[in-house]
Amino acid sequence: MEIVIVPDAAAGGELIASAIAELVTRKPDALVGVATGSTPLPIYTALTAKVAGGLDVTRVRICQLDEYVGLPAGHPESYRSTVIRQVVEPLGLSEGSFIGPDGTAADVAAEAIAYDHALAEAGGVDFQILGIGTDGHIGFNEPCSSLASRTRIKTLTDQTRIDNARFFEDDIEQVPHHVITQGIGTILEARHVVLLATGANKADAVAATVEGPLSALVPASALQLHPHATVVVDEAAAAGLKLADYFRATYAAKPSWQSI
Ligand code: PGA
Repeated sequence: MEIVIVPDAAAGGELIASAIAELVTRKPDALVGVATGSTPLPIYTALTAKVAGGLDVTRVRICQLDEYVGLPAGHPESYRSTVIRQVVEPLGLSEGSFIGPDGTAADVAAEAIAYDHALAEAGGVDFQILGIGTDGHIGFNEPCSSLASRTRIKTLTDQTRIDNARFFEDDIEQVPHHVITQGIGTILEARHVVLLATGANKADAVAATVEGPLSALVPASALQLHPHATVVVDEAAAAGLKLADYFRATYAAKPSWQSI
């Protein structure tokens, strides 16, 4: 696992957008898994700027990490709407370049399995962007999710519903209880997994993920099993890392030809 400590969220966004740009230059039809929430926004801003500067993303494909269950189709806070608004449209992609689970499906269990299969049929995810919950979740795999889990329905913790109420007029009652999320086993199949965490409220979760034991109690710790996982943190989110100086020195000494 590589840990990169950046000065601020914008620097993290730029670093990750640069890695995506390198991937797309090498593999124009790369499948890029995107995350929602506030943290990844600097990535999308930086990537959009690269497209404006000439980066060709016309063949890039985008896939969703998770989705609320039960919001009406087209609800602005559904993750489908969010990804279209924050990623697909700014990058100038068509909706046809985008896949995600349908949170309005009548048979949610079947929809989750179908989405898991769709990711494999699309050739697998090349680059998966992740945020992290204050409780250590990735996607919506809440604590004690199976580390081998596949895409399925999950129930959100109260903490996550409180954290996300800001997208629902600060009204927790409007935050759905259920979601479809890529499983931890599904996420670990992506060829490169890149987690961005910013802000002091993520420091405990980051420390447990990077330096704690592998544990279903901290779902993001499963990234310790991935052969190519990168954790990008700002100074505030890095505050709990005992090995911060080592991570800084390692990154500073990295050969210039080597990307994250
Ligand atoms: P946030 O969400 O980026 O809005 O903090 C992260 C997450 O829940 O994965």
